[in-house]
Amino acid sequence: MVQGPGSGYRLDDDIEDVLLSSDRIQARLVELAGEIDRDYAARPLLLVGVLKGAFVLMADLARHLSTPVEFDFMAVSSYGSATRTSGVVRIIKDLEIDIAGRHVLVVEDIVDSGLTLNYLLRNLRARGPASVEVFALLSKPDQTRVELPIRYHGFAVPNVFVVGYGLDYAERYRNLPYVGTLRAEVYSSG
Ligand code: IMP
Repeated sequence: MVQGPGSGYRLDDDIEDVLLSSDRIQARLVELAGEIDRDYAARPLLLVGVLKGAFVLMADLARHLSTPVEFDFMAVSSYGSATRTSGVVRIIKDLEIDIAGRHVLVVEDIVDSGLTLNYLLRNLRARGPASVEVFALLSKPDQTRVELPIRYHGFAVPNVFVVGYGLDYAERYRNLPYVGTLRAEVYSSG
């Protein structure tokens, strides 16, 4: 929906329903950050964000932690349509930090089929880290397709396409501070 300045268009106008408000997300992050702080008990932690979706979550989560953390990012692309993943994953950007002997926490925005995360975990475990755990803000019911050890989990969402808080549709809506669904017209207007 490309409209000129002054047209009065707001990103929010494309949203059908808000599923998770900004306040709910932040409150949950505070709880989960508390669990992480207790579990790691000041052991240095490497947060590995899965781009692009996790960048918003990483920034907010990390600021609630008191455990010492370092940051690195991976970017993966899954072959498939715009709204479904095929499970065939390609690494677009690899880590810069050697994770051998490190405590790693993979930070994912959403786990749908789990195929992306499944691939990433196998890849990361082969590099000899001291530990690898998973933080997923959202999960969908399909997740049961592969058995995944999600240690820190924010919210279950229904099997609908969601945007906001890092999640995009056609690269938009990542900057919305909440998670919601899009109005049907957005998909048809291309
Ligand atoms: P999976 O491999 O099926 O678990 O898919 C994981 C990836 O698909 C996520 O990291 C997202 O990039 C993307 N994805 C899955 N569901 C949604 C959604 O509802 N909105 C936006 N992106 C999604």
